[in-house]
Order: sequence, then C-alpha cells, then structure tokens
Amino acid sequence: MATLMGRKVVVVGGSSGVGLGVARAALEGGAEVVIVGRSPEKLAAAERALATDGRARSLAADMTKERDIARMFEEVGALDHLVSTAGLLPPDEPIDRAEMEVVRSFVDNKLIGAVMLAKHAMRALTAGGSMTFTSGINKDRPPVPGGAVVAAIAGSFSYFARALALELAPTRVNIVSPGWVDTPMWDIVGEAKAGFFADMAARLPAGRIATVADVAPAYIYLMESEFTTGETLRIDGGQSLI
Ligand SMILES: NC(=O)c1ccc[n+]([C@@H]2O[C@H](COP(=O)([O-])OP(=O)(O)OC[C@H]3O[C@@H](n4cnc5c(N)ncnc54)[C@H](OP(=O)(O)O)[C@@H]3O)[C@@H](O)[C@H]2O)c1
Repeated sequence: MATLMGRKVVVVGGSSGVGLGVARAALEGGAEVVIVGRSPEKLAAAERALATDGRARSLAADMTKERDIARMFEEVGALDHLVSTAGLLPPDEPIDRAEMEVVRSFVDNKLIGAVMLAKHAMRALTAGGSMTFTSGINKDRPPVPGGAVVAAIAGSFSYFARALALELAPTRVNIVSPGWVDTPMWDIVGEAKAGFFADMAARLPAGRIATVADVAPAYIYLMESEFTTGETLRIDGGQSLI
C-alpha cells in the first residue's frame, strides 16, 4: 500500500458531505488537499471546518464548465490523486414526465463532468496516481417509479472506470458506490429525513445509516491500494442486498 503522506489530493465536491469527509481523512493521512466546488461560501466554511496547518486550500470551479476544469488543474499543478464526489439531487420524475432539460443537466453535472475531469486530470497526475469517482445505491436499488435516470447514470460509472483504467494504465481508476449517507444532500427532505432514515436503518444489515466517516475510508483505500483498479467498491451497509 502506498501512503498519502505528502501527496496532493484534489477532492471535487470537497466542500460538503462525503467529499468533505474524504478531505478530512486525507489530511489525517498526511496529504495536502485541494477542495473544489462551485460555491465560494461553502468552500470557505469547509476550509474553516477542516482547520489545518495550511495543508488544505480551496478552489471554486464548476465541473460542468470545461474552462473551469482546465483552469482548476492549471492552478493545482501536478497532483497525485483526484477524487470526485460532486453531484446534485437526481431527477425523480417517472419516465413519462421526464423533462429533457432536467435530465440533461443531471447527466451533464454527474457524468459528463466526471469525463471532463478525467480528461484534464490525466495530464496532471503523477506516476502511481489515481482517480476515484462516485456512483451510488440507486443503480442497485432504484426508487420506483422515478429511478431510471439516476440508475442509468450511476450504473454507467462502473463501466466508465473499467474502460478508463485500461486506457490510462498504470493510472488507476475506481468508483465508490455509497448507500444512503447522512449528508446535507438530504436537507431537501426537511423533517421527513428522520422518518426515512429510521425506516431504512431498520431494514439495513448494518442497522443504521452511514455517516461520512463510514464512507471516506473507502476513498482512502482506493487511493492507497496500488493493486486496485477498474473496481466499484460498495459502501452501503448491505443496502444492495435487501
Ligand atoms: N448522500 C447520499 O445518501 C448519497 C447516496 C448515494 C450516492 N451519493 C453520491 O455521493 C456524492 C456526494 O453526495 P453528498 O451527499 O456528499 O452531497 P453534498 O453534501 O450535497 O455535496 C455535493 C458536493 O458536490 C459539489 N458540486 C455539485 N455540483 C458541482 C459542480 N457542477 N461542480 C463542482 N462541484 C459540484 C457541491 O458543492 P457546490 O454545490 O458548491 O458546487 C458539494 O461540495 C454525490 O455524487 C451523490 O450522488 C450520495
């Protein structure tokens, strides 16, 4: 296993939720971390929350804009590991009500953004480097109705990683697939969150909903494991089994 000590890790989506947890874990492992997101306010708050000895900094960039991605990698310079947890709430309309613009903007953000990150990161990654992207439980257990689009996108990440791992070898490319994780993404459901979570926790083999601290070590493992590539690592408390 390699170590993250002294390595430079870029976490796109690092201003919140899972990405912020990955940034924290990478810092604990001795890395230098750059967190990336669109909102400068969220980035500033995350930097304060990380409160490091100058090993964390932030850059505002929108991964749906290629010029932002290019500028971001120019400012970062050489890096050892790219992680992306960036994502938006998926569209949840049944297919007969799917609106092209809504679907397109989700695909643009989640999938095309990842493709463009890979395109620009490969030029900047050092030998032994890796890329880790994020899919999710909805490919294994899609909500019905309304889960078809997110299942298609989440599922495609595994095949993206397998093909890219071959194309970019020896750079490693992997996916983390979380189950439900208690993050700000769920704030949208307001008070209903506690009920959703209690119901899911009762059904999960793990018996509880994940925190970001449950999921972040998977990203650290995939960065450090020199022999894991093209893999999708489920961290879902058994949610894909039920
Ligand atoms: N939480 C769950 O239960 C769960 C379950 C399965 C899969 N996932 C997946 O896990 C990933 C992380 O989710 P989370 O719960 O940590 O969400 P979150 O707390 O809402 O964080 C999402 C992060 O992505 C950034 N982001 C969104 N769009 C971006 C863009 N176009 N360019 C750059 N940054 C962007 C956000 O910052 P800005 O808004 O400032 O850009 C934020 O830092 C997502 O891909 C999600 O689909 C989550």
